[in-house]
Amino acid sequence: MPARPDVDLLVLGSGVAGLSAAIRAARAGRSVAVLTKGELAWSATQYAQGGVAAALEEDVDSPDLHFADTISAGVGLCDVDAVRVLVTEGPARVRELIGLGAEFDRASDTDLAYTREGGHSVARIVHAGGDATGAEIERALVSAVRDTAAMVHERWFALDLLVVDGRAVGVRAVDPTGAEHELRATHTILATGGAGQCFAVTTNPLLSTGDGIAMARRAGVAVADVEFMQFHPTALDHPSMPRPLLSEALRGEGAVLRDDHGHAFMLSEHALEDLAPRDVVARAIARRLNDGDLPHLWLDATPIPNFARRFPTVWRACQLVGLDPTREWLPVAPAAHYLSGGICTDLDGATTMPGVWACGEVACSGVHGANRLASNSLLDGLVFGSRCVDAIVAGKDEAEETGVLRGIEAPPPTPLEVPTATRAGRRATREDLQRVMTRDAGVLRDGGSLTRAHDALESMQPTDREVANLLVVSRALVDAALAREESRGTHTRLDFPETNPAFLGRLVFTDAEPRFVRLPEPAATR
Ligand code: FAD
Ligand code: SIN
Repeated sequence: MPARPDVDLLVLGSGVAGLSAAIRAARAGRSVAVLTKGELAWSATQYAQGGVAAALEEDVDSPDLHFADTISAGVGLCDVDAVRVLVTEGPARVRELIGLGAEFDRASDTDLAYTREGGHSVARIVHAGGDATGAEIERALVSAVRDTAAMVHERWFALDLLVVDGRAVGVRAVDPTGAEHELRATHTILATGGAGQCFAVTTNPLLSTGDGIAMARRAGVAVADVEFMQFHPTALDHPSMPRPLLSEALRGEGAVLRDDHGHAFMLSEHALEDLAPRDVVARAIARRLNDGDLPHLWLDATPIPNFARRFPTVWRACQLVGLDPTREWLPVAPAAHYLSGGICTDLDGATTMPGVWACGEVACSGVHGANRLASNSLLDGLVFGSRCVDAIVAGKDEAEETGVLRGIEAPPPTPLEVPTATRAGRRATREDLQRVMTRDAGVLRDGGSLTRAHDALESMQPTDREVANLLVVSRALVDAALAREESRGTHTRLDFPETNPAFLGRLVFTDAEPRFVRLPEPAATR
């Protein structure tokens, strides 16, 4: 008989958010099971390059400065309380991670090395192995979780929440032999990561299929901000999947974007030039690609000294495709990278359904607003993964009206009928769906393209479980993008090019259609 855990806490996902939560809960004496659909180390986390942003150096930086940069990047939609939590608790969580064994790069025996990325006013990003930060964090967390008593279920696929009388009591999941089980737990944390695989051009690994968001939607748990898919401006323009990322830290260390005439165009786009917030840079590139009908622009990384030592991951990716970044410009184009929205949570990661918690990229904790500040995601997973556990250990059982849940009067969750492989329609593969999303719901969108995407998605019958989940997330993304008739952050409508104060709020799904919920207290805009 396969193992049937009966635990205090079931954690779905083994990236930075899930593993840091599991370790904390196991150390607090709770019985914990981690269930993950691949091997333990498989995650978007292990691909992270640039680093972790945290105000660790009090003489040059402060949580207040980090707060201001995060709020500014989020274009009015950050939850101010959630951002305050992120920036004040972040430094302690990074130090704990170092205590768990993660080795960050050092400027000297006693000092950490810091870099800058877009939207940051100071160099506050710690990194590991040059640009292999995620691999080092994942290594440290996998090793630490194996040292705890947490049960680990690798290659188990979570299908759906088990709901009894409006409370989640665990999940239905498939084991590696294909047999289905009900796994019961007092609390379930969804830490299943993002949904970059909705798009054909993405930096995300194949496993980033939005499963947790789809599970939440099917159970009627509130989801918001999913129109804000962040496109990374500098993915290498090469057919490999996922697209090799050329870290924003390259620009932090002196690389410059150039158009097809060699002009450094970011000089005239934003006061921070090549280190403008990511949405600004992605939009500037996308417009030029559109206007000139070009496949890519260029990243000139030739000014960077000791390239291979400072950026070994990028160096290897370039070598694999025959490029030498020390001598030639690199072809770049935007790629889907990070979903800023997700499952709505209060400041402790509690959701609108008792028994369900969410942290990391799957969650909408409010820290990213309409555009995530670079290197705030790993930090988000560390901070809110820990807060979920601390709240559970303290006996919290139901969400409060804090964070994103302020102002969201969620009706009691009602299960939603969403497409499954049993509904009639055109059989659609992952590639079919990705083609539609990339063509019609990418960096630059308009009402016509989004309506086309909506109609195409409506007629699709998914060919497998992950495509079914991608379809649920893609439909929500497109419907919210259609409803948001403005441009803000990572959501650019060519037919509504301005930011409109009437849209200072979230598009929240508790039912089939998104509902607009005005922010109780808008954060300052840029
Ligand atoms: P993930 O790390 O994606 O983990 C999700 C886990 O859930 C996986 O283990 C997966 O197998 C599991 N899972 C999913 N669905 C199921 C299911 N149905 N059943 C069971 N298990 C499931 N952020 C930064 O802050 N700094 C950076 O430098 C940075 N660089 C990046 C570079 C790249 C190339 C990419 C792709 C992202 C980068 N990001 C960076 C973003 C950041 O890496 C992610 O947002 C973050 O790691 C997400 O962590 P997570 O724990 O929420 O999810
Ligand atoms: C990068 O290194 O450019 C990615 C950083 C991030 O996504 O936060």
